[in-house]
Amino acid sequence: MSHNRFEEVRERHARAEAGGGQQRRERQHKEGKLAARERIELLLDEGSFEELDKLVRHRSRNFGMDENVIDGDGFVTGHGKIHGRRVFVFAQDFTVFGGSLSESNAQKIVKIMDLALKVGAPLIGLNDSGGARIQEGVASLAGYADIFLRNTLSSGVIPQISAIMGPCAGGAVYSPALTDFVFMVENTSHMFVTGPDVIKTVTHEDVTKEHLGGAITHNTLSGVAQFLAHDDEDCLRQIRELLTFLPSNNLDGAPRLATKDPSHRADPELDTLIPEESNKPYDIRDLIHRVVDDGHFFEVASLFARNIVIGFARLAGQTIGIVANQPAHLAGCLDIDSSTKGARFVRFCDAFQIPILTFEDVPGFLPGTAQEFGGIIRHGAKLLYAYAEATVPKVTVITRKAYGGAYCVMGSKHLRTDINFAYPTAEIAVMGAEGAVNVLYRRELLTALHPDEVRKAKIEEYRDKFASPFEAAERGYIDDVIEPHETRPKAIEAFRMLENKVDTMPKKKHGCIPL
Ligand code: HXC
Repeated sequence: MSHNRFEEVRERHARAEAGGGQQRRERQHKEGKLAARERIELLLDEGSFEELDKLVRHRSRNFGMDENVIDGDGFVTGHGKIHGRRVFVFAQDFTVFGGSLSESNAQKIVKIMDLALKVGAPLIGLNDSGGARIQEGVASLAGYADIFLRNTLSSGVIPQISAIMGPCAGGAVYSPALTDFVFMVENTSHMFVTGPDVIKTVTHEDVTKEHLGGAITHNTLSGVAQFLAHDDEDCLRQIRELLTFLPSNNLDGAPRLATKDPSHRADPELDTLIPEESNKPYDIRDLIHRVVDDGHFFEVASLFARNIVIGFARLAGQTIGIVANQPAHLAGCLDIDSSTKGARFVRFCDAFQIPILTFEDVPGFLPGTAQEFGGIIRHGAKLLYAYAEATVPKVTVITRKAYGGAYCVMGSKHLRTDINFAYPTAEIAVMGAEGAVNVLYRRELLTALHPDEVRKAKIEEYRDKFASPFEAAERGYIDDVIEPHETRPKAIEAFRMLENKVDTMPKKKHGCIPL
């Protein structure tokens, strides 16, 4: 008897591992996609996967489903390790009923989500699914909602990462949307609330699946995804790398990675990196690479709202989040997309105790009716709010422009940033010299005999007085004017000093960020 049971368990395990069978797996491969178990194997440290609920079956009795039962029911769930640290993972197996979500496999996901939250370990979801299991109706919808609730409760407690590695449509998109980082694989992944056919019927627009919800669209246009992968392997490798920067939960602190890059390393090249002409662009990423440990910067959302750069790096082995205006794109101005991109990242860092280093070179907010009608007031406020509420160690370096409201927003002293540096090239003022002179001396310029000469003289005077770091430094809004070559040692020493920083928010249920 017991011997038969041994056999039975082996058979059941084998059936679960076979999933939807060889033929469907081959089709998956032909489409350039790996199978669910192959993905998990590549994602996790070798041999570390502990599967749960491999023997779960669906309970559907409609549409002939009682004749069609597959052990495991098409979702592979469990836990394992990435670089030696525990993570929880689920992978939807498209070869079993199109990876569709049944009541049973929703419960499998809910089980690991509850465990991940209780033990404080990241959750990674590998999505490849035709959505709600049509044969199960509302039981499947309930499963989605159970997952959405847990995504929300886990938000800010454990990092949640989604990889879209096939279809992800309808309400199913909202679980990834609630997670912290979304990866998409080029050509094989799609996300949309309503597909091309429905759109054609309702709005008469012709749009392909790829253009509507492919990896490029969501990485460049919508901002729904933050990472673009060339194929499944690349996607899983990138997830492993992201995790090296993150703590397992909001209480843990990110792992430190020893570095041979000296903390006191000065970089003379930095002194000439910023062009003398204040309207000449440069790539802020060149500066970031020269400052952080080993020149290693892991950029997030690199294709969306490129006028702001965000990402993770290390200083003296400690993870930091970097937010930087990008003068090489739209002159680094703040607009709707860059504001929400920056705000979301600042809040992630704050939730997970990751210190924030800001590099500021911002001429102001982008003018125009598109921005005003789109609600730049509301969206710009999000970035302001995020910086103001963040209690993690904050260090800001003004490399060049810090004008107007944008000066206040980008981690200014007034939003309780701990240490504010400026380069000698910094220009901190209410507005640019030309604009300021036109406002202040309008009447004088109208009546002047030689208005161009007067304008020139006044612009120079304004520049000398205001377009410098000294007025702000004299008031203590800037803690020190540093030379660019000393950025790395200065930033490292500032974060070391802030290591045990404690700051709090007034007691409240939660704030009302202007969403
Ligand atoms: C049950 C499904 C299924 C589903 C696919 N299959 N989707 N079974 N429920 N939702 C099955 C197919 O019957 C087929 O079975 C196998 O999976 C592979 O599907 P194909 O259609 O052959 O694959 P492909 O041509 O690649 O097309 C993939 C697809 C398409 C675009 C995802 O299958 C599709 O449109 N599926 C339906 C999508 C959908 O309308 N879902 C409900 C959305 S509403 P066999 O046995 O032939 O291999 C929703 C609400 C969520 O999800 C709400 C949350 C709040």
